Amino acid sequence: MSRVLLSACALAALSLAACAGGPVAEPPALTSPPMTTPAVRPVDYVRDVHSHARPEVARVVDVALDLAADFETSRLSGTATLSITGVPGAEEIVLDVRNLDLQAVRTPEGRALDYSLGAEDPTLGQPLTVRFDRPLAAGETRRIVIAYATRPDAAALQWLTPAQTAGGRLPYLFSQGQAILTRTWVPTQDSPGIRQTFSARITAPDALKVVMSADHLTPEGEPAGPGRRAWRFRMDNPVPPYLIAIGAGDVAFQPIDERTGVFTEPSKLAAAHRELVPTAGMVDAAEALYGPYIWGRYDLLVLPPSFPFGGMENPRLTFATPTIIAGDQSLVSLVAHELAHSWSGNLVTNATWDDFWLNEGFTVYFENRIMEAVYGRDRALQEQVLGWNSLQDTLASLPPADTRLKLDLAGRDPDDGMTDVAYEKGAAFLRTIERLVGRERFDVWLRGYFERNAFRPMTTERFLEDIRTHLVRGDAALEAQLMMDAWIYQPGMPSNWVAPVSDAFAPVDAAAQAVFVAGAPVSTVPWSDWNTQQRLRFLGWRPEGLQPAGDWLTPAQLADLSATLDLPDEGNAEIVFAWLQIALQHRYDPAVPQAEAFLTGMGRRKFVLPLFRTLWAEEDWGRPLATRLYREARPLYHPVTTGSVDPLLGWAG
Ligand code: BES
Ligand code: ZN
Repeated sequence: MSRVLLSACALAALSLAACAGGPVAEPPALTSPPMTTPAVRPVDYVRDVHSHARPEVARVVDVALDLAADFETSRLSGTATLSITGVPGAEEIVLDVRNLDLQAVRTPEGRALDYSLGAEDPTLGQPLTVRFDRPLAAGETRRIVIAYATRPDAAALQWLTPAQTAGGRLPYLFSQGQAILTRTWVPTQDSPGIRQTFSARITAPDALKVVMSADHLTPEGEPAGPGRRAWRFRMDNPVPPYLIAIGAGDVAFQPIDERTGVFTEPSKLAAAHRELVPTAGMVDAAEALYGPYIWGRYDLLVLPPSFPFGGMENPRLTFATPTIIAGDQSLVSLVAHELAHSWSGNLVTNATWDDFWLNEGFTVYFENRIMEAVYGRDRALQEQVLGWNSLQDTLASLPPADTRLKLDLAGRDPDDGMTDVAYEKGAAFLRTIERLVGRERFDVWLRGYFERNAFRPMTTERFLEDIRTHLVRGDAALEAQLMMDAWIYQPGMPSNWVAPVSDAFAPVDAAAQAVFVAGAPVSTVPWSDWNTQQRLRFLGWRPEGLQPAGDWLTPAQLADLSATLDLPDEGNAEIVFAWLQIALQHRYDPAVPQAEAFLTGMGRRKFVLPLFRTLWAEEDWGRPLATRLYREARPLYHPVTTGSVDPLLGWAG
């Protein structure tokens, strides 16, 4: 039945009305990726300080999971069967694990293997060294079976109670692997340079649907004993382990076109689908820019509000926060971003977290090219300017060493590298190259870069080699103009930067001057003529040289702003966030209920952490409030978010 519905919908391509048949049980069976599994190429491993693995001795090439999800105990338990290759004579393999309960390591025939766990590091976890029963032979693929269970506080997993979902009836589980959290639910070599194919059989209570970042082999599940169903998955393209992802809950699906669609809770599906219709055109635009989309389907899973990130580029199935569902498609650049990772990140992958800008800087650049192709140059420029301004704030606040593109994160959590430097300075660097060589030449190079380096880990040094060989080609004058070494290895911005400018922001800046400096009433602001990016520009305005805890508005101005722009009823999360930053910094009491609703209603770290920082800075007024709101909100938050907010508030339970 669903097939008939689907093809009618697919034929009607992007027409919303034709898809009004509503949710269907399964996505169209767009089978394996159109590209055959890539030839495995020899890889020169570089040292990854965030993994215990020694891939030059023995490495995991495939992971097969057989796990049961138990929502009573908040545990996944079962086995991971690892396929391993290595140098002839290798006698052991070193894996990464963190916070796992290990039961046994065996051969596929069931013979126990010796293993040992090394010292525990709170961020990196422990090395798990498994001794083979006989040395590896040349060309051999060895299999080992690890029986284990995850712990209820596994950092990659969030187990939601029914009350924490939209439906309120069924529990929910989702994972977040990047950067080094996969080791808290899968015992494997958790380094982005060690690519692995994977498959899984997951059982769950039969009211739930299980989805993964892989081919869905059983879109309806299959019986697996009383009250349970099993779901099987396969990913044939080798991926870095941070891209292994799972979701399980009361989830329904609605297609957008024949290769794209949306999964989310049934009561949220219509709105999510309406919002995300532009996805189909984005995939087409991305392919036209930089080559075929090789992963087969591109679906989105819109998660419950506790999802700690905006989006996560899990292959075939981007995970997204529900805070992008604004009602007017104004925040869909996030889809462009996660989609762009299907090339920058998922095909060509940062070899280590020190090279994170190769994932995110390339992706922000590519994201903006997709936005330009779909929405035009002006919209793309507006988003560039917002990103550029945010970069300037970041550069002013970080220690200089952390403003280099190539990082040195030894001894630190790779999360520390997740700043605007990787994202926006990285993108600004690529735009600088584009400007100096011309877009046409730049695009030819970038398309080639993805082709040449697909399925390979990329270091900053190999990037430099690639661009020098294929783009600069010994042109000494160009080499000097580009200042590539300065961009990468020096703090701050090299002298050849050019700030993006959007004409659409000129009237916004004039209105901000009139209201915030000259004291004009907010009713003079043409708010309803502006798009979301212009509104964010307006609310992001700050006086020159503002002190960190300084005020720039009077209580009467705040009341005017709030009432005239209808901010208490605003539905766009980015605008609510921008407004609350102003209101809380001014200790504006009437905004407290809205802050409470916002902070207890979603757990996206990008919103939660800065708002608690703002409250904390308003000591006598803000700290008791922060403590009260955090006590209320914290049970909703994912470990990624609490891990950042706990230290700020000195939270000890
Ligand atoms: N891959 C990142 C998310 C990430 C990075 C998770 C590092 C864990 C460690 C994802 O693509 C991303 O950048 N998400 C952004 C949104 C994007 C539009 C800039 C986010 O979640 O804010
Ligand atoms: Zn990203």
